[in-house]
Formats: sequence, C-alpha cells, structure tokens
Amino acid sequence: MNVLDSSLVENLLFEQGFEITGDRNSADIIIYNTCSVRAHAEQKVFSSLGKDAKRKASLARENSPGTIMVGVIGCMAQRLGQKLKNRYKVIDFICAPGRLHQLPEIIRSASKLPGAVYLDPPRTRSALPGDNGSIELLDSNRKPCGSRHAYLRIMRGCDRFCGYCIVPFVRGPERSRKPASIIQEARKLVDAGCDYITLLGQTVNSYHSSYQGKNILFADLLYILAGITGLRRLDFITSHPAGFNQDILTAMKDLDSVCPYIHCPPQSGSDRILKAMNRGYTRSEYDALVDSARRIVPEVTLAGDFIVGFPGESERDHEMSIDLIRQSGFKNSFIFKYSPRPGTQAAKKYADNVPEEVKKMRNNELLAVQKEVGLECHRRCVGRRFEVYVEGPSPRCNKQENPPTPDLTQMRGRTRGNHIVLFYSSENIADQYVDVEITGASDLGLVGKQVSHSGPSG
Ligand code: 5AD
Ligand code: SF4
Repeated sequence: MNVLDSSLVENLLFEQGFEITGDRNSADIIIYNTCSVRAHAEQKVFSSLGKDAKRKASLARENSPGTIMVGVIGCMAQRLGQKLKNRYKVIDFICAPGRLHQLPEIIRSASKLPGAVYLDPPRTRSALPGDNGSIELLDSNRKPCGSRHAYLRIMRGCDRFCGYCIVPFVRGPERSRKPASIIQEARKLVDAGCDYITLLGQTVNSYHSSYQGKNILFADLLYILAGITGLRRLDFITSHPAGFNQDILTAMKDLDSVCPYIHCPPQSGSDRILKAMNRGYTRSEYDALVDSARRIVPEVTLAGDFIVGFPGESERDHEMSIDLIRQSGFKNSFIFKYSPRPGTQAAKKYADNVPEEVKKMRNNELLAVQKEVGLECHRRCVGRRFEVYVEGPSPRCNKQENPPTPDLTQMRGRTRGNHIVLFYSSENIADQYVDVEITGASDLGLVGKQVSHSGPSG
C-alpha cells in the first residue's frame, strides 16, 4: 500500500513541476512515507529525522543559501500528528494517508508558513464510515507509469480491528471504491501498455459496492476486470480468511487472467490466540479454506503472515502455528514479532508478556519450518516451464557468484503463482514476459533457464 502511495505521490508532485531525486543530499525536500504497523518501522524514521535535524542546523550555521524541507506522510503522520511535529522541530509538514492528494498545496503552504499538520478525522471504534468521494482523488487522477505491472487500489481502510493492529486507526474506516472508477483506472492503465494489475486493499475480499443497479462483491469485481481486453495477469493482496468465499475461488478457477495466488495471513494456528487477536475465524475454518483453495483452484500457491509472541502465547499455541505452516504448505510466510501498538485493544488489555528472547526463538523456529515447507513447494516446480514476468535485474546479483559468461545478467521475475524465479539473460528483458524452464529450487524461490520470449501480448 505504501509503495503505491509513494508512487502516486511522486506522480502527483512530478506533474506539478517538482523533480524527483533518489539522492537525499541533493534534495531540497525530503518526504518520509511512513508505516506504523510495528515500532521498528517507526524507529527508523525517528533516527532519520534526527540526522535531518543535524543537517538542517549545519546548513543554517554555514549560512548556506538553501535549506531543506522535511515532511512526514502516511500512517505515522496520522498516528502521531502534532506530537511528532513538537518532538522533531525539523519537520515542516505532516500529511495523513487520506490527504495525500493535497500534498502539492501542503508543501507550498509549508514553505511560507512552517508547521502544517494535515490529518484525517480521528478514528474510534464507533466512528462513522468515511467519506467515499475523497478516496478517489489520489488514485483516479494518476498517470500510468509506463510499466506493464501496476498496483490498483480498490479500497481503503479497515473495519476489522484485529487486537494488535494499528491500521484501522491510521488508515480509517473501510471504504470500497466505486466499480466504475476502478474499471476506468484499469482501462487507462491497460491502454498505456500495462497488462498486469495487482489489486490492493487491507482486506480485498471485503470489497463491496454497487454497479449498474446490482450489489458487487469481490468475486464480481474479478469477473468485471478480467473482461478488460489486453489484461494478461490480475492478482490481489491481501485477503482476510473470514469471508474468503467459494465464489472468489470459483472466479480464480474460471478466469484465465486471474493468477492462482492467495496471500491470506493466518497470524496464528491456535484458536485461543486467534480469539484473543479478534481475528474472526477458527483454526479449522482456516484449514477448510486451504482445502477448498487447493481443491478448486488448480496450482494455487498460498502465502501467509504470522505474529509470534502475542500476549499469552504459550509453547502449545506456538506449536499450532508451526503445524499450520506444515499443513498449509505455504510458498512463503512473513513472520513478525508482536509489537504493542498504542491504542489497540491488545495493547490496552494485555501485557506484552512474552519475553524478547522467546519471541526471537519462536520467530526463528517458524522461519526454519517455513524454509523447509517453501523448499518442498518449490521443488515440485523443478523440470517444469513457466511464463515469468521479469521485474528486472536480480537485486541480489552482486552478492552471487559471477555469471557463467560476462555478457549475462541475473534477472528476477515472478510466475503466475507468484514464485520468484532467478535466471540469466543476455538481453534487457525487464518488464517483459519470458518462458523459463526450472532447473533448481531453494526455500525462497526457483532458478531456471530462459527458453524463449513469450512475446509482447501473450
Ligand atoms: N505486531 C507485529 N506484527 C504486526 N502485524 C500487524 N500488526 C502487528 C503488530 N502490532 C503484521 C501482521 C500483518 C502484517 C502486515 O503485519 O502479520 O499481516
Ligand atoms: Fe489490521 Fe486486521 Fe485490518 Fe489486517 S484485517 S489491516 S491485520 S485490522
């Protein structure tokens, strides 16, 4: 979600005459797009703000003609608001996730009158649903970026209030975008050469709206979007296990462009912890979802998120999470140590009583089991041929052994099932589709040999 927001903000600022630079030392304005999901993400921002304060002070001391402006946008902006501004005087403007479309004006006004703090209405459990109009402003005015792959937001916010999670407070109530607007944005992207769209939402399967006099749920939206000529791949993140119904699985089976990939975080394998987390499903319901997905969607790949060390998590609860990874056969899982977030139900109700060493150990144990399960899942792909969307040169290529011949570059791409594939290529094939024969597997993905270009339109 933040990757999309950053690119939409870049897009908006560029359109307004700002230049984007990757080099912070040559920037006049530094903007942090921030995440509040765990304390660690916030600490990194605090530490960078400290460095900016020193730099700004030294520019002032040197009587340098220029100075820098510093802005904080996104979830930390909403969570901490004026408090953040008071603590870090270096900040010139603060902008919450729901007001990013106003960023050019905010920057301009902050350059005249420092101290601009632009927040969304505060969220409480009983807050009214948000205003649907303003959620369109950033997304529907975007200019396609020229890549064949794009993110497309279908909803904002979340109403689930999982006990540990800050998202409903900082991203506001759940609001689905109107299908007409989503379709228009998808068509605009496809007309500009994009043929791979990833739909985004905190819980995409909660999507609900109306279109041409009918109620539209997530499965219906998939059918509508898959009808856009020229769309080759359509996938979506993230799903919530509650309400991931058979209609979605049937749509995935029926629609050629919809990728057989489901990222559906269980968070824990233990009923006791799921209840304390307020997740709204039981372990056996999660197992049943995995069974249906494997039965209905041929070749489906599954991925999960887990939190270790949630308050009160016992060794037995932890073993249930290990068991769930094994049983579900996840391709990969993201595993996080519980981080209490101020204002959430879990932080209010429970002490953070699993010691840090135990959290670390459980994190490592889940990672080790996921490694085994991931390797097994990837091994089943060896010897087969996959269409791969090439993201670009492999980010790890510098650390790997030298290529077999110097003219080759290691590239990284994704299969339709979202498996990561590494292979060597002599051509600049970033942002294209090629066929790759899989020759090896690791816990994280596949390695293979490029066997053909699969052509521009498939
Ligand atoms: N502590 C640790 N992990 C968290 N997540 C969300 N909130 C917390 C928290 N307070 C994890 C969940 C979610 C992912 C995006 O981040 O696993 O799926
Ligand atoms: Fe957070 Fe739960 Fe909403 Fe996901 S479903 S964003 S974990 S509150």
